[in-house]
Amino acid sequence: MTVNDEVGSDNHSGVHPDILKAIETVNAGYSVAYGDDKCTNRTVKKFKEHFGKDIDVFFVGNGTAANILGIKAITNSFNSIFCAETAHLNVHECCGPEKFTGCKLTVVPTLDGKLTVDLLKPYIFGFCDPHMAQPKVISITQSTEYGTVYNPNEIKNLSDFAHSKKMLLHMDGARLCNAAASLNVDLAAITRDAGVDVLSFGGTKNGMMFGDAVVFFDKNLSKNFEFIRKQGMHLTSKMRFISAQFEALLSNDLWHKNAKHANNMAQFLCNELKDVPQVKITQKVQVNAVFASLPKKFITELQKKYAFHVFNEQTSEVRWMCSFNTSKKDVMNFVKAIKAVVS
Ligand SMILES: Cc1ncc(COP(=O)(O)O)c(C=O)c1O
Repeated sequence: MTVNDEVGSDNHSGVHPDILKAIETVNAGYSVAYGDDKCTNRTVKKFKEHFGKDIDVFFVGNGTAANILGIKAITNSFNSIFCAETAHLNVHECCGPEKFTGCKLTVVPTLDGKLTVDLLKPYIFGFCDPHMAQPKVISITQSTEYGTVYNPNEIKNLSDFAHSKKMLLHMDGARLCNAAASLNVDLAAITRDAGVDVLSFGGTKNGMMFGDAVVFFDKNLSKNFEFIRKQGMHLTSKMRFISAQFEALLSNDLWHKNAKHANNMAQFLCNELKDVPQVKITQKVQVNAVFASLPKKFITELQKKYAFHVFNEQTSEVRWMCSFNTSKKDVMNFVKAIKAVVS
């Protein structure tokens, strides 16, 4: 029997045709390497249209590199970084943040993947004490690993708090587009305008083949990034193949269309599951993820047909993801499979 991969991750989807076309376009002829090419220059301008003129943008190969190298640029090894317990930074980067930055990663438990000032306060202390790691970065994920979304005010509260302590706010925006589409705001509203200092902006989960961008909203913070990126092994020679993808994603509202569609499909899945009493939706469905708990025996059965992650073994909580190319038919087939298993 074949196992369907649709709901396992938004990384399981392919590449949007407009992005593939953009890759093909820059494939013609020759081009200067290491980011000095016309396409990369145009793409940097495109980022400025979306995020504001006064930014620095650097392309890297993946989201883990964007997070780690972006944070490396704004820390010293005696600093500490604060993130939600569920953050990709903490769970899925193989201690890379600790190894490359040398910093202490302090994790904060949350109910829904979202940090708040009140949750953070008890953890942030020791300023100027030479025996203590020096608090420097709060890192949040937008949308979160639980598929929840920070509104602009919630982000502003966190950035105001960080700045009041002379700390900085980093955002893991692997699914930033999904969050912006969910809130119906532009990309700047939940980044620059809300006081984010450094952003990892991902496109892979929203129709790109690969590639991430590190965006600095204060140019003083990016001074050493060229060198950090090279030392960190993410100065890609044929950079135009990353930048061309971002140029397409940020043109003609493609970022929004893809994200909106993925979000709508998750909402559709959630609605279709309302009359299945064995499945309990555990988190707000705000973007392209549906979190649910169901008895373990049903999970095991369902996984024979569909690949997906069990997020929390103890609570039997699973994650089902939709992406830009999820169809209503895909969702209905999945719902049918769930209903068959639980009946
Ligand atoms: C929240 C989050 N951040 C970052 C990443 C980037 O990871 P990768 O290095 O696999 O591109 C992911 C991918 O799963 C993610 O879910």
